[in-house]
Amino acid sequence: MYTVPQLDDYSPASLEKAFDELRAAFDSEAQAPLDAGWTVFRDRWLGRKSGILTQVNDQWLKAAPPEAKREVGRRLNELKRIIEDGVEERRIVSVNVAVTGSELRASAGSVSVHPVDVTLPGIRRPLGAEHPVIRTMNEIVAVFRAMGYSIAEGPEIETDYYNFEALNFPPNHPARDSQDTLFIAGQEQKPPRERLLLRTHTSPLQIRTMEKQPPPVRIVVPGKVYRHDTPDASHSPLFHQVEGLAVDTGITFSDLKGTLDHAMKALFGSSVRTRFFPSFFPFTEPSADVAITCFKCNGRGRVGETPCRVCKMTGWIELLGSGMVDPAVFGFVKSNGYDPEKISGFAFGMGVDRIAMMKYEIDDISLLFQGDARFLEQFA
Ligand code: PHE
Repeated sequence: MYTVPQLDDYSPASLEKAFDELRAAFDSEAQAPLDAGWTVFRDRWLGRKSGILTQVNDQWLKAAPPEAKREVGRRLNELKRIIEDGVEERRIVSVNVAVTGSELRASAGSVSVHPVDVTLPGIRRPLGAEHPVIRTMNEIVAVFRAMGYSIAEGPEIETDYYNFEALNFPPNHPARDSQDTLFIAGQEQKPPRERLLLRTHTSPLQIRTMEKQPPPVRIVVPGKVYRHDTPDASHSPLFHQVEGLAVDTGITFSDLKGTLDHAMKALFGSSVRTRFFPSFFPFTEPSADVAITCFKCNGRGRVGETPCRVCKMTGWIELLGSGMVDPAVFGFVKSNGYDPEKISGFAFGMGVDRIAMMKYEIDDISLLFQGDARFLEQFA
C-alpha cells in the first residue's frame, strides 16, 4: 500500500519521479475491485485531515524551498484534479453496482450517473382498445349518419326545464317517477325549472337542438345518462343512450317504423324483424316500444333444444322507446318554426349498454364500468 514518502530532493527529476509514483499508486488502486465501498477510497485520497492529498500538501508543498514551490504547486493541482475525477468515477461505478448489480465502468471522463442499463426490461406500451360501450355507440351513430343524421351533444348536468318540463313532464307529475332522478343538492332557493340534476335521458337535446335550429332536423345524440337506481346485474346509476330526432314537413309514423326497422337490420343483421307495441312517454304521442327478433335464436326462443338465454325464450328483445313528437313539446319551441300544424316528427331513444351486453353476451352491466383490464382486453 502506497504511503507518502519524505521528500528531500526538490530537483525537477526527483519531483517528476515522486509524482509519477504517486500517480501510479492512485491508478492501480482506482482499478481494484470496490470491496470496501467508494467512500473508503475517497477518504484515503481526499480525506481533509490525513488523506494522501493533504499529506502531500503538508509534507511536499509546505516543506518545499521557495524556488521549488511553484513547480510543486503546479503538479499538486494537476494531481488533485486527477484524484477528484477518479473518486467521482468510483462513486458512479458504485451507484451502478447498487442499481444493476454489475460493475459497469463509466467510460473515461463520463460523469453520467445513469448510463444506459441494457439489462433492464423495456417499456411496454400495450395497444388500447375501444370499450365495448363506445364501440356499440359508434356503430349505432354510424348507421344514422349514413341516413343523413348529424350528431348533437349536450350537458350531463341539466336543468329541470330541459330534462322534464319542456319534454311535457309537468312539475310534480307522476310521469317523473318513471325516471328516478339524481338532483344536485342545495338548490332550494332556485325556481324549480332552474334546478340542476344529472340528466336521466338524452331527450333534453331534442329541446336544446330545436331551440338552436329551425326545422328540418335530423340528429342523433350519443351520451351518458344517470338514474338513482340500485346497481344490480342489469342496472347501473350511469349508463348510455343514443337519442334520435327527426322533424320535417309530412313525417309520419311509417317513417319512424321504416327508419328504426332499417337501423335494427343494419345493427343486428338483415334477418332481424322489428315489432312495435304501444307504450307511453310524456313527450311522444303515440308512443311505441320497439322489440327485435332475438338475434341469438332468430326469434324461435330456443337454440336447437336449449332454451335461449338472450331473450328468455320469448323470441323478442325490447330495445328502444320511440314515438311521434308530442305537439305539446313543439309548443315550447314554437317561435323557432315548430308549428305543430305545419311540421311533425319522430323521436327514439335506446340504451347502449343493454345493446352492447346483448351483442357481446355480457351478463353483468357492472363489468362495463369496473375498468378491469382482464375484462376489457377481450374486446381488443
Ligand atoms: N327518453 C326515453 C327514456 O329514456 C326514451 C325515448 C326517447 C322515448 C325518445 C321516446 C322518444 O326512457
